[in-house]
Formats: sequence, structure tokens, C-alpha cells
Amino acid sequence: MATPFASEGSSLSMRALTGALLFSRPYPIHFFNPSPPMSDRTVWWEAGKVRMIDQRLLPLDYVIADFDAVPDVARAITEMVVRGAPAIGATAGFGMALAAQQSRAETTRGLLADLRQAKETLDAARPTAVNLAWATARLLLLAEALAGDGASIERIQAALLVEAQRLADQDVEINQRMGRHGAAVIPQNANILHHCNTGSLAAVDIGTALGVVRAAHEANKNIHVWVDETRPRLQGARLTAWELMRDGIPMHLIADNAAGLLMRQRKVDVVLYGADRVAANGDVANKIGSYKLAVVAKENGIPCYSVVPTSTIDLDLPDGDHIPIEERGWEEVVMVGDTQIAPDDVPVYNPAFDVTPHRYLTGIITEEGVCYPPFTESLAAAKARAEARIRAAQGRPL
Ligand code: MRU
Repeated sequence: MATPFASEGSSLSMRALTGALLFSRPYPIHFFNPSPPMSDRTVWWEAGKVRMIDQRLLPLDYVIADFDAVPDVARAITEMVVRGAPAIGATAGFGMALAAQQSRAETTRGLLADLRQAKETLDAARPTAVNLAWATARLLLLAEALAGDGASIERIQAALLVEAQRLADQDVEINQRMGRHGAAVIPQNANILHHCNTGSLAAVDIGTALGVVRAAHEANKNIHVWVDETRPRLQGARLTAWELMRDGIPMHLIADNAAGLLMRQRKVDVVLYGADRVAANGDVANKIGSYKLAVVAKENGIPCYSVVPTSTIDLDLPDGDHIPIEERGWEEVVMVGDTQIAPDDVPVYNPAFDVTPHRYLTGIITEEGVCYPPFTESLAAAKARAEARIRAAQGRPL
């Protein structure tokens, strides 16, 4: 059966690369190609649907995908139409708003049951990024609070849409603040080593670690970025390179395995990456390969920062050993384009994330400022400040 991913006009090898990496199942979504102009957000709500840039197709095709059912939103997260912890969170927020809009419940109790079901479906989409459950909990808690105050179904539906939109808007504002805090620790003329994609595509806009890169560039720090390709899904090569080149930020794409050499040759001044979950003690789960960057950075006296919104901090987990690590399919490792690069039936293990123990991190950059060791204290304080800000914006008591 034809896939919705295929389109004309690109080279076979890159087409096959994105297609093979990014699955070939028929998908109940509607596509249109809006080029130009491009959307300036990764995910948004429009006309009763959740819309997003289909990141599986970049950099060759810029296509918007629409979703109008909660299970399809969840599947878009699982299959990485949208990816990156903050973007997943914003998508899940819109998924909850969608669930509220589509509920046929005739009582608020029924509506809450539908929302709990939607939360379960969305939370199961990917296990590592805590932003997902954080966002669905935020929407569900608001619905429960409003129901407790006697609000009508229509009032709760409207409030959840406003809240999902607010969550997305706040993500942009949070990234701006993280960028400002982070740029302050980037030296003039810095060579920055960056892993995966943490840019506007990984958030609603701007990005986390790439938000810091953008802010440093805008502050005329004369930076240059070493972009890890980030096997196996090549988020660095496909997405980060695309974003930086569009913004005119000096960069070179490197094979992941080049990073150690560059650090030893003093060609790296700072390592920056994001995180999908930060445990209470500052251990950080991020894209597979991050851990060894941090170790080699420390060995060579190079500062290493993880850049995260406080929604990525999970104070319920004491340390990184408790963070669930997603395992993904064999095809991401065995196939490059339409070319099989390993023997038939080769056994594959494909963990998507690793954990950097906090002792390797110089700091964790958040929208509330740069957290330094002891992280147990600095992260808890940052999270408390951010939560007070959210409650104030919702008009709820602090
Ligand atoms: O598997 P992905 O592409 O969703 O992984 C993304 C990352 O590892 C990012 O570094 C992380 O989500 C932080 S992005 C702001």
C-alpha cells in the first residue's frame, strides 16, 4: 500500500533514508504542503485539529500533518512525527484539549473519565520524556479543579483548550528565558558541541540547548557549532543542521565518533544538550550518546551543560537509575535508507536514551536560571518557582 510519506522530487537515497527510518505504515492523517510560508511553530491547534510539522520527512520535505483523534495524536508521538521532550509535552496538552472537545459525556464525571482515558493513551506513547505525563497531568488537574468548583462541561472544554494553548505559548517564553540564562555561560568565540536536536523542532519554537545557541549567536558571541549526526535516527544531521543553516549559524556536521577527537584537540569549548528527564539528584536522561560526551568532556576539562525546561525535572525519581529508557525498533539501526547494513536477522538492541550521572554536568540550565550542584537543592528550588508561576497564570492560589 502506498505510504503517506512518499512525495516526488527528492533524491532516492535521502528519500529512502527518511522513509525507511521513519516507517511505512499507512497513517490516518491528512497532509498538505504549505511551502511557502513555513509554520513558525512545531505543533499547534487549528480548526479543531492538532497540527504539526512531520519531522520524519525533514530536511527534504516540509509537510504539515493533522490529527483529529486522540489515539492518532499518541501514535504521532510514538512514531516521531513530533519528537523532542517539550514538543511532545505541548502535543500531549493539545491531545487532552482534543479529548475534551470530542467527549460525548453528559456529566462532568463522564468528561473526567474520558480525560483520564486520554491521559493514559497519551502517556503510553513514549516512556522517557516526562514532559508528556507532566502536560497531561496539568490539563487533567485543571479539569478536576474546575469540576470540583461545579463548572459545566462546556466551561471545562473551553478552559482546557485555553490551557493547552497557554502551555504551548509558555514553552516559547520559557525557551527565550533559558536562552538568556544559557547564553551568559557561553564564552565569546565558543565552539559548541551539540547532540541530537533540541531546537524549535524539539519544542514549540526556539528550543532548549539550541535556544541557548540561538541566544549566544544573537548576542554576537561569534559561536560555531559541531553538530553530532546522532545515530541512529540522525536528528542532528536531519534536523539540527537544517535549523542552524536556516538561521545562518556557523556549523559543521560531524560523525558522532568524531566528538572525542575534537575535544582532545581543544576544538570544543562547551558541550550542550537537552534532556528528556532529569531526576531529583541531577542525573539526566537524554538521547543515546550523551553520556559518553559528558565523560569525555570532563576528562578534557570542558564544561558540559544540559538545558531543560523545569517541566523536564522529575522530582519523584531520586536518581537516573529510576528513569525508564525507551527501546526502539531494530530497523533504526539496521537500515540506512533502503540499504540494509547488517546481516539478515541480526539481533539488535536499540536503547534510545542514556543517563548522564550528575557528577559529569557543570550545570543544568533552566528557565529559572542555571542550576549548579548540589542539584538536589537547586533543581527543587527552580521547579517550585516555575510551578508557582504556572498557578499564578491559571489564576489559582499559589
Ligand atoms: O528521540 P527524540 O528525538 O525525541 O529525542 C530528543 C532528545 O533527546 C532531546 O535532546 C531532548 O528531548 C531534549 S529536546 C529539547
